Amino acid sequence: MSIGIDIQLAIELLNSNKLVAIPTETVYGLAANAFNENAVLSIYKTKNRPQFNPLIIHSNSIERFEQWGLEIPNDVRLLANKFWPGPLTFIIPANDKVPDIVTAGTGAVAIRVPNHPLTLELLSKLNFPLAAPSANPSGFISPTSALHVDRQLGNKIDYILDGGICNVGVESTIISFLENEPKILRFGGLAIEEIEEVIGHQLLVNNTSEKIVAPGMLTKHYAPNHPMFLVDDIVKALEGKNRDRVGVITFSNSIINIPAKNQFILSKSKDLNEAASNLFAVMRNIDELDIDEIYAEKFPNQGLGYAINDRLKRASIQE
Ligand code: TXA
Ligand code: MG
Repeated sequence: MSIGIDIQLAIELLNSNKLVAIPTETVYGLAANAFNENAVLSIYKTKNRPQFNPLIIHSNSIERFEQWGLEIPNDVRLLANKFWPGPLTFIIPANDKVPDIVTAGTGAVAIRVPNHPLTLELLSKLNFPLAAPSANPSGFISPTSALHVDRQLGNKIDYILDGGICNVGVESTIISFLENEPKILRFGGLAIEEIEEVIGHQLLVNNTSEKIVAPGMLTKHYAPNHPMFLVDDIVKALEGKNRDRVGVITFSNSIINIPAKNQFILSKSKDLNEAASNLFAVMRNIDELDIDEIYAEKFPNQGLGYAINDRLKRASIQE
């Protein structure tokens, strides 16, 4: 395994149905030829991912998905024209070209054009889309740097294309277009408000957390080693606790009487985009501390705050 920026090597490996980790603006993906079943199978094996959890396919333009025979609904075209390349994934009906192993037999496929110059160049030089889930072992935090990928999967993959730190930092927003009304399946790197402005009305949210509609949205995810709690008010939650033994994640304020090294502020200037871009690295770092518990505060429910709250909640103990 090696890390670098050799696009030619990445192309050769992908053409031989090998795995390559790729940078995107959201998180790193673990990529393989989406049209080759064996290549896709090795993604599942490498991540230890259950095969009922389908994969997003990535290419460099909406036209390429059409060339592979996928029918693009009008609203998808509208949104893609506005937000692609970008942190937005659409679920649409699949066709015979897309193997069942990619769709998990659902008959639907997730499509995305990611916004990263290296990966866009790579995708433009391939004759197939790349199936790519986040490049972490199933159930753990998504990687936002090549080093994160290397630490968790480095010995299992042939090459990591190093595109630096992911500037959005949370996974793409996923919208399903399988029914009459578009539905949000995952809050992510594109604010719902921006999407609603283009569609012209509010979007439905899939809130059936028991029945897994985006099967990867298992309620327990991003599992830290320390017990983590998502709370409205950290100061109150810490009453009676040994403050030397906790780590805290806050939006913009520090908490008094907590050792500075145990405090992680996601955005001093209260910028939700900046907070999202720091979130996963902070979740990794805080978990390395010698502490007993982690407390995170709820973020405002607006913009990328929905995605931040969603990821914090999945990482937390839910009562
Ligand atoms: O930002 C992202 O979306 C990153 C980068 C690499 O593109 N990818 C990513 O993939 O987060 P993954 O596999 O970690 O999450 C994809 C989610 C999963 O929850 C999966 O269940 C859902 O998308 N999904 C994929 N195909 C689907 C389908 N056909 N129907 C419903 N949900 C689907
Ligand atoms: Mg993932």
